[in-house]
Amino acid sequence: MTKRTHHCNQLTRQENDQNVTLIGWVQNIRKIGKILFFTLADKHGTTQIVVPDSNPNLLQIAQQLGYQYVVAVEGKVRLRPPKDVNLNMTTGEIEVVASQLHILSPCADPFPLSIDERDTVSEHVRMQYRYLDLRRPSMQEALRFRHNLCFCVREYFHQQGFLEVDTPLLTKSTPEGARDYLVPSRVHPGQFYALPQSPQMFKQLLMIGGVEKYFQIAKCFRDEDLRADRQPEFTQIDVEMSFVEPEDIFSTMEGMFATIFQRILQQPLSTPFPRIRYSEAIEKYGSDKPDLRLEIALQDLSYIAQNTNFRVFQNALQQKGVVKGICFPNAAQHYSRKKLDELATAIQDFQAKGLAWIKIQNQQPQSPIKKFFSPSQLKQLQTLFQANENALILIVADSPNVVHASLSYLRNRLAKELGLLDDQHFAFCWITDYPLFEYNPEEERLESLHHPFTSPHPNDLHLLEKDPLSARSLAYDLVLNGVELGSGSIRIHNPQIQEKIFQLLQLPQEEIQKRFGFFLKALQYGTPPHGGIALGLDRILMLLGGFESIREVIAFPKTATAACPMTGCPSEVSDQQLNELHISLKKG
Ligand code: AMO
Ligand code: AMP
Repeated sequence: MTKRTHHCNQLTRQENDQNVTLIGWVQNIRKIGKILFFTLADKHGTTQIVVPDSNPNLLQIAQQLGYQYVVAVEGKVRLRPPKDVNLNMTTGEIEVVASQLHILSPCADPFPLSIDERDTVSEHVRMQYRYLDLRRPSMQEALRFRHNLCFCVREYFHQQGFLEVDTPLLTKSTPEGARDYLVPSRVHPGQFYALPQSPQMFKQLLMIGGVEKYFQIAKCFRDEDLRADRQPEFTQIDVEMSFVEPEDIFSTMEGMFATIFQRILQQPLSTPFPRIRYSEAIEKYGSDKPDLRLEIALQDLSYIAQNTNFRVFQNALQQKGVVKGICFPNAAQHYSRKKLDELATAIQDFQAKGLAWIKIQNQQPQSPIKKFFSPSQLKQLQTLFQANENALILIVADSPNVVHASLSYLRNRLAKELGLLDDQHFAFCWITDYPLFEYNPEEERLESLHHPFTSPHPNDLHLLEKDPLSARSLAYDLVLNGVELGSGSIRIHNPQIQEKIFQLLQLPQEEIQKRFGFFLKALQYGTPPHGGIALGLDRILMLLGGFESIREVIAFPKTATAACPMTGCPSEVSDQQLNELHISLKKG
């Protein structure tokens, strides 16, 4: 095979007059008079090739070239005429005059998608021909970005004394809250493995096994509804440490991000990240995933609302609800009545029954509910929200959950619409002191907010029996620009407390034993206090790389319906395979 002497982004005026060999894909063939030009591309970049009209044999081969043919070009570097110099390209000052062309591989015509970044190609076609889509420079860059970041993460944890240990993919269900992907066993009729939703129990078992500092870039599988930041299989940076407190986990992960920012993004990162208690995050931002690029916080105006004549506010307050609002400066003129109606409709998704608004225009509050407020109450409102000329105040009255979900949505939506979010700014925060449980009204039972291995807060152990919903846990989340990057907790290392938690979750004793018996047993043999975290690697790449979706940072992603248009999976299997697995399919 012909060997290349240089890659396609290498030759400059320094190599003028040198004989070189390049190999790459043909793009952009054009003819000027009898002379033929084309661009040769490889993963590094492009070089312009000239096929002179003086060599009829060569021209004949060149005539056969087509888009995306793989060719080896032997030739001599020469300087481009000054009018053709392109200083934006590394190779923009030269071209290679071909003396030999070897077609290594032709390419079928028509080519199903354009490699040119300026052309838009539907995502379905991109995924169907992902191997061609990957030839786009932006996809090459995304793959490189992922590789560099993983390399940096591995190096960081290695230097910190962590061991990377891989954990099984054919395993038992872990309770992360999503549906499992199941794999039927041929050898054990009627029995199934589950693909791991996370390595959760294994990393805890590694702590019992004395590993002390574990990490893994781990594949996880969850059968859940997909969206831009969710895939059925995704990757976690999974970490577990013995003898730690939450602060030790925080500083370890902050160190990881500081290293990534320094080495990969070449940007400083300010650490430690702010720590915000869950209750405070909800009060101030309506969400435990606050986008801290925006300072604007929610304000509670219940104390003003209760004295107004507005029935809606009074009713909400009588039913233990709240009246809260958010104020955007310089926004009033951007929100017409029609747009405000659209916002009111949008928050119906969160069960909000209405949206009240006040605009400050011509130094006066304007609002359909102005008549219910006295002049002094309007003044109080303006002071509370620091509402100046052109401010827009949005108010929701309802139960705290509805109010917080609605206003958090509006906070994010208006911030985006008003262009207040800087893509280049990265605002991290830790959310701490989560409740241990939440209530599932359909199943009429408690559920773990994080997962059942999360340690209750030591100061709240006395609440487990009498008021479990008020008990806090030692769980934490890491949030970046309004997206949950990761979750973790200090774990339960005491088998009695672990069993107590399973009981509070109303898991029948038999099921506890069946699902977690091996784990409860392991906890009895000298379990070190331990804790950890898992970060979504794909989400980190999406946010730090400025991508719209995690599909852009995964070489072979799945569609929103968990399918792969390229391989055609999932697909039917033969009757023989089903028979071997002791499975018969339901008809219809
Ligand atoms: P959790 O379930 O919160 O915690 O997951 C941790 C992080 O994994 C990412 N993630 C996903 N990314 C892409 N697609 C998905 N479907 C998906 N699901 C989750 C998110 C999320 O924050 N074992 C615990 C961690 C621990 O306690 O140490 C766990 O898996 O970024
Ligand atoms: P109404 O008196 O129902 O016409 O409502 C007057 C204004 O109050 C309208 O702009 C409604 O959108 C708004 N509104 C109604 N219910 C609520 C609520 N629960 N919270 C905030 N505003 C509301």
